[in-house]
Amino acid sequence: MSELRFDNQTVVVTGAGGGLGKAYALFFAERGANVVVNDLGGSHKGDGKSSKAADVVVDEIRAAGGKAVANYDSVENGEAIIETAIKNFGRVDVLLNNAGILRDISFKNMKDEDWDLINRVHTYGAYKCARAAWPHFRKQKYGRVINTASAAGLFGSFGQANYSAAKLGQVGFTETLAKEGAKYNILANVIAPIAASRMTATVMPPDVLDNLKPDWVVPLVAALVHSSNTTESGGIYEVGGGHMAKLRWERAKGALLKTDDSLTPGAIARKWNDVNDFSEPDYPTGPADFMGFLETGLKMPSAQSGEEPDFKGKVALV
Ligand code: NAI
Repeated sequence: MSELRFDNQTVVVTGAGGGLGKAYALFFAERGANVVVNDLGGSHKGDGKSSKAADVVVDEIRAAGGKAVANYDSVENGEAIIETAIKNFGRVDVLLNNAGILRDISFKNMKDEDWDLINRVHTYGAYKCARAAWPHFRKQKYGRVINTASAAGLFGSFGQANYSAAKLGQVGFTETLAKEGAKYNILANVIAPIAASRMTATVMPPDVLDNLKPDWVVPLVAALVHSSNTTESGGIYEVGGGHMAKLRWERAKGALLKTDDSLTPGAIARKWNDVNDFSEPDYPTGPADFMGFLETGLKMPSAQSGEEPDFKGKVALV
């Protein structure tokens, strides 16, 4: 079987100076891609900056005969990162939104600064990079995006209210990019990885980390962003240590109550088992099917038609 190659493509990897980002950068360069190695080079809490982190990776790629260029901007300056791709390689095909920091602190002690910095890097940064790449993707009718969520976002995590919020935000962001990108062959997926890095070194013992090499996250990402993937978009994947699995929403049986004076908290309490009954679940993929449950049988315009919505004079889905 021939290997998946990325010749003549440009892959932008944010936060590529270490951890998962470095593993992506080395892999894609080895498989023929031009790689933009972006890294701000600060601490894992977001303090400071240095060009060294990105330079070391670029040197390693070039020494192995690959093509790479460094960019030292924060992901908050997404335009500058994409501009580096365009200026040096003339195009951008793949964007891996990977850069990240932590500001772990109990919610009781959380400061606005802890909340804001996490959201600036993870939420605003991913947005800025994707926003800058989008016109190029649309014009060439090709683009692949990977955003990076976390188990903390999917399930919550003690001391990570800021990070959890930002990371689950990546899921909704990805789902929407997948919908808006479909018509232009722009595919977006989101991963919740687990891998040894300076980020996890503080919370996991060495013998566990030995079994979680960043390299073992890379192949799934590579498969998702390869041109041979033409359909898989809007997916959420847990990946690490050789295991990978797609996640989806599950809806309980639920209860339908009359929309009159009998719709009281007490009436809901009496139906509480049904509200929470997952014995025969369904797997919702959009808002339209929820409306089908209603007593009035309300219908929602499909949000999945892939057509450019015309919001003028219409009520947006909120
Ligand atoms: P890491 O700390 O080794 O790498 C993150 C890189 O991003 C660093 O090199 C850092 O300098 C860079 N960076 C930070 N802020 C930046 C900014 N504003 N602009 C540009 N670069 C910036 O961490 P790791 O573990 O490789 O994390 C990669 C991504 O995976 C992050 O988004 C993280 O939240 C996510 N993640 C990692 C998990 C793991 O088990 N390692 C678990 C869940 C999520």
